[in-house]
Amino acid sequence: MTENLQLDPLGTLRRSHYCGELRRAHAGQRVLLMGWVHRRRDLGSLLFLDLRDRSGMCQIVFNRDRAPALHERAGALRSEYVIGIEGEVVERSAPTVNPALATGEVEVVASGLHIFNDARTPPFLLDEAQEVAEEARLKYRYVDLRRPAMQANVRLRHEVTAAIRRYFDSRGFLEIETPFLTRSTPEGARDYLVPSRLQRGSFYALPQSPQLFKQILMMGGCDRYFQIVRCFRDEDLRADRQPEFTQIDVELSFPQEETVYELIEGMLAAAFAAGGSEIATPFPRLSWEEAMARYGSDKPDLRLPAMSDVRAHFAPEELEQLKLAAEEPVLAIRIPRVGALSRSQRDELRPLAEGRPVRFFEDFGRLAKSFPATTERIGASIAAGEGDLVTLVGAPAGARRQRHEVATHAGALRLALAQHFAERHGLLDARDFRFLWVTSFPMFEWDETEKRWAAAHHPFTSPREDDWERLESEPGLVKARAYDVVLNGTELGSGSIRIHRSDLQSRIFRLLGMDEDEARQRFGFFLEALQYGTPPHGGIALGLDRLVMILAGENSIREVIPFPKTARGVDLMVDAPTPVSAAQLRELGVQVTLDSGR
Ligand code: AMO
Repeated sequence: MTENLQLDPLGTLRRSHYCGELRRAHAGQRVLLMGWVHRRRDLGSLLFLDLRDRSGMCQIVFNRDRAPALHERAGALRSEYVIGIEGEVVERSAPTVNPALATGEVEVVASGLHIFNDARTPPFLLDEAQEVAEEARLKYRYVDLRRPAMQANVRLRHEVTAAIRRYFDSRGFLEIETPFLTRSTPEGARDYLVPSRLQRGSFYALPQSPQLFKQILMMGGCDRYFQIVRCFRDEDLRADRQPEFTQIDVELSFPQEETVYELIEGMLAAAFAAGGSEIATPFPRLSWEEAMARYGSDKPDLRLPAMSDVRAHFAPEELEQLKLAAEEPVLAIRIPRVGALSRSQRDELRPLAEGRPVRFFEDFGRLAKSFPATTERIGASIAAGEGDLVTLVGAPAGARRQRHEVATHAGALRLALAQHFAERHGLLDARDFRFLWVTSFPMFEWDETEKRWAAAHHPFTSPREDDWERLESEPGLVKARAYDVVLNGTELGSGSIRIHRSDLQSRIFRLLGMDEDEARQRFGFFLEALQYGTPPHGGIALGLDRLVMILAGENSIREVIPFPKTARGVDLMVDAPTPVSAAQLRELGVQVTLDSGR
């Protein structure tokens, strides 16, 4: 298939440049490029190709007058054919320069063409893939991955991962692998189970995280561990959740919380620098109580002002008149720079609050007519400026509520309002990276269905030492030495200082409703290990997919995972999961009863 060129036989062709590299300085050079036909424009005697590879695109010209046979062969090329081009780089004349293309000042006048492979008509045009149904993109992921946006995401993920590895290496951390075929780790999701052929009737669990292994590595004297590791969780999927995802997993011996904060801030600075963004450290910190009260969320988005409890500005009879519970907070939400709103624009806001057990006052201006002095004090206290939208959220008088319930609803409304105005008013800028640490989480959460206390983080988290004596008497008030790192309303990572004594660990298991037998059966090896010389230790795990998603300005982690699964847990390209043969099941001693568990 080689035509009119002095190329070696197929297989020994040597590429001289990547397509995206060519610049004016290359003019006059002979080059040999390889890649995919991106686009073709046939102008009669001139035929133009955009040739694309990982680095970008450049324009190739076939000239009928100068090389008629070659020109004719090029006429057969179609989108996504894989070809080699030999030719000379020439400067484009001023009017034909394409400023939209990095290589737009030059083109390659072809003198040779080699067709490595033809291609069926692609299922979607690469330029338009953004509007293509995601199912098609996932089914034909190999085509989708060729799109420049996906290429950029794949590359960004590599750069970030490489920077993180370099960072930990420079800080004396060892990258150590831990098993995938293991037993259950309690991270709160369902396990993926793998039946054992050799131990029929027994199952491995895929790790929800390497939590127990990394603690055991500290007991094993490894001192500083990290791993960029796949974790598996069978849970309901969302834009920021996949059944298999990647953690940047870290554990160190003899740390304080401060050691972890400083370490991770440095790591994130290195990761963001690799993505071309500078971030400010240290990060601000908020206790969980403050985060809940002021943002109504344990993962506050700091790109918007906090909420304020303005109840104290109201006289008791005013609260009564507004049918607001006197003992609950009245939260003022300020969304900056929204501008004047018409009546109908205000009406659009009300549905955002529908279905929530709160009273929502979307028209601060109207409140001001009835309560001028109060609203003026409120406006001043929250520094409301010209064009800011101020709304109030309170609890209706009468009903009983959970702690932080009003704040949680108000917090959700705050985000919904911001999203409502985001596009028009440039709120929630994706390039404005606002990190924070959320600290002092409660140790336990009450599980209403199971009627028992559950670990808010995981059961290996250390309670604050001051709280040890009230562990049994007031578990609801015990604070954990746990922390989350949050970015723009997303929980990026979560960790804690761990329990390093077996007596305390057993106490926590008991508190979580595990009797001694169950504790021994599930975590016996771990309780035993704690007795053979365990150093104080702690760590954290961050979601790599989430981190790269935010850096890439994407809204779903599927955009930064080469082969993700759909919301129903399906890999559309390889078509997994699938039923397996009766012989395989027999060998494993597994029987499938389709209607069970439904
Ligand atoms: P945690 O369960 O909070 O902690 O997980 C840590 C981080 O992992 C990411 N993450 C996910 N990302 C994508 N899809 C998922 N399904 C998913 N689940 C979690 C999040 C989260 O913040 N062993 C502890 C850490 C520790 O204590 O050191 C753990 O796994 O970004």
